[in-house]
Amino acid sequence: MVPPMSGQTPSEQCFTDAASLSKTDWAEARQALTGPQPGSLNIAHAVLDRQVAAGRGDRAAVLSLGRRYEKRRLSVAQLADQAARLAQVLTRHGIVPGDKVAVLTGRRIELYVAAFGAWKAGAVFCPLFSAFGPGPLKSRLELSQAKVLIATEDLYRRKVAGLRASLPDLVHVLLIGEDGQPVAGEDAEDFNALVAAATPAATIATQAEDPAFLHFTSGTTGTPKGVLHSHSAVVAQTLTARLVFGLQEDDVFWCTADPGWITNTAYALIAPLANGCQVVVDEAEFDPRRWYGILKDEKVNVWYTTPTNIRMMMRYGAALARVYKENSLRVAASVGEPLNPEAVAWGEKALGVPFLDTWWQTETGAIAIANCPGRAKAGSMGMPLPGVEAAVMSRELTRITPVDQPDEVGELALRADLPSMFTAYMGEGAHYDSSFVDGWYLTGDLVRRDSDGCYWFVGRADDMIKSASHTIGPFEVECGLMDHPAVAEIGVVGKPDLLLREVPVAFISLNPGFEPGEALRVELLTFARQCLGGALAPREIHFVDAMPKTTTGKILRRALKAKAVAEPEDDELILAPVHAGRFDDE
Ligand code: WTA
Repeated sequence: MVPPMSGQTPSEQCFTDAASLSKTDWAEARQALTGPQPGSLNIAHAVLDRQVAAGRGDRAAVLSLGRRYEKRRLSVAQLADQAARLAQVLTRHGIVPGDKVAVLTGRRIELYVAAFGAWKAGAVFCPLFSAFGPGPLKSRLELSQAKVLIATEDLYRRKVAGLRASLPDLVHVLLIGEDGQPVAGEDAEDFNALVAAATPAATIATQAEDPAFLHFTSGTTGTPKGVLHSHSAVVAQTLTARLVFGLQEDDVFWCTADPGWITNTAYALIAPLANGCQVVVDEAEFDPRRWYGILKDEKVNVWYTTPTNIRMMMRYGAALARVYKENSLRVAASVGEPLNPEAVAWGEKALGVPFLDTWWQTETGAIAIANCPGRAKAGSMGMPLPGVEAAVMSRELTRITPVDQPDEVGELALRADLPSMFTAYMGEGAHYDSSFVDGWYLTGDLVRRDSDGCYWFVGRADDMIKSASHTIGPFEVECGLMDHPAVAEIGVVGKPDLLLREVPVAFISLNPGFEPGEALRVELLTFARQCLGGALAPREIHFVDAMPKTTTGKILRRALKAKAVAEPEDDELILAPVHAGRFDDE
């Protein structure tokens, strides 16, 4: 453990830490987390083995709530043991350090075993969104070159089994049966049986810069970007969680993010456990009564969620909230999109704590800018955390100049020396290099900094769509729909939405022989849903005779966006709802 703090209130802790943390402290924290060999760094060792060695193996690590609220628990020692067994299984299956292990399980206890097992074996943990359809899963599995996939039997059979022939790198599939049932089939093995029969392996002594996890984020081209992180991310994740959430040992921490999102890896898998907390994992979909119940009954002290989820809770009104007002919450925080001041205030009224907005990206690997207890400004993203240097830049091609005037808009840049900064875009060296200029990482977000030093989100500098806190690349959605024979040209843009902030909508011109009309619209929406999955499929489709284009022949997204705003919603065709981090899965 990073040495615990004691005898202070959480907000005092935050301030003491905040005031004292400097660049040197990253190095000190790195030192404190070192192992299993002198000088090495492995997330599984830093999070689990160190606690077991310190005699804290018996403390609660994971509490998993099944769909019918069945409780499953793992102590630190049990999780370390199961992960060590899985590491042996992976090694026996030919996994060597640096190999990718893809994971498609949704939120469940085995996700923890899979992640820490992969890290113990020196492998790269690569979690996937369970609400993606076969198309996006295929492109991600291809890009990752994963040799092993760990999945629930249901998700695998529905979404990946049919792709096996086109995934030559994927040699082994380990499946988790429903309700612990054994798994049968020639194309896969039983995860639980393999883990139970294995002997625990020692944690590999990886180096801080060795790759540890891979997440995908939407790119400005058709394929997603594989954002690679190294083991040193654990240093920033552990400390930022202490700074922002004021974590104390034995706190109960609940992060609602889907495992495909880096928020889950950093703040559901790594940071709370590294700080000696217990995590709550909820396998079910969003249900306000259930969520209030979890907060209260499981005595959650720290809650990390998204603005979309908060807005959804707000919709159910104050009366329901009042029933659950007695709770153990000390800190509630949000990430993924701007958090409006009304939501911050609602937290105070309904739950007894205001929501703290935090800003970061898949690429930064850990929270970089945040409101902390005692230094929060509602509506803003807060201030850079101590140890994080941020700036507002004006960028012209490869030249950047700082914007010094308060409230002037520019691109948010961060000093590249954050220990959790990504180490590669898989297979895109030039793109990775061009993200850094003069030692600054350029985030692609437009922001302004006020005279108090607080940062305010203005928008994206590119065409990314933010829906239910997730970043969707219009290009990936367009590519998915281009496979339908009716589609001649397509442009996908974000349409403002009160609940989800934006929803992807598609404008389509048709090939000869296809007639625009309701039947084709439903067919295309269903096609999109089946191939892209609920997370990426457009919510609306509009037919156009011709696409608005720039003089160089590029689709004019601005014009499409204006059209999208003007189009009335077609309620009948709005498909099942999406929730932040919890896209409904058919
Ligand atoms: C946006 C999320 C406004 C932003 C961990 C960023 C936010 C992108 C906030 C990263 C916030 C994240 N206020 N916008 N507090 N937090 N964003 O990679 O555009 O899925 O660049 O990682 O979400 O999304 P990503």
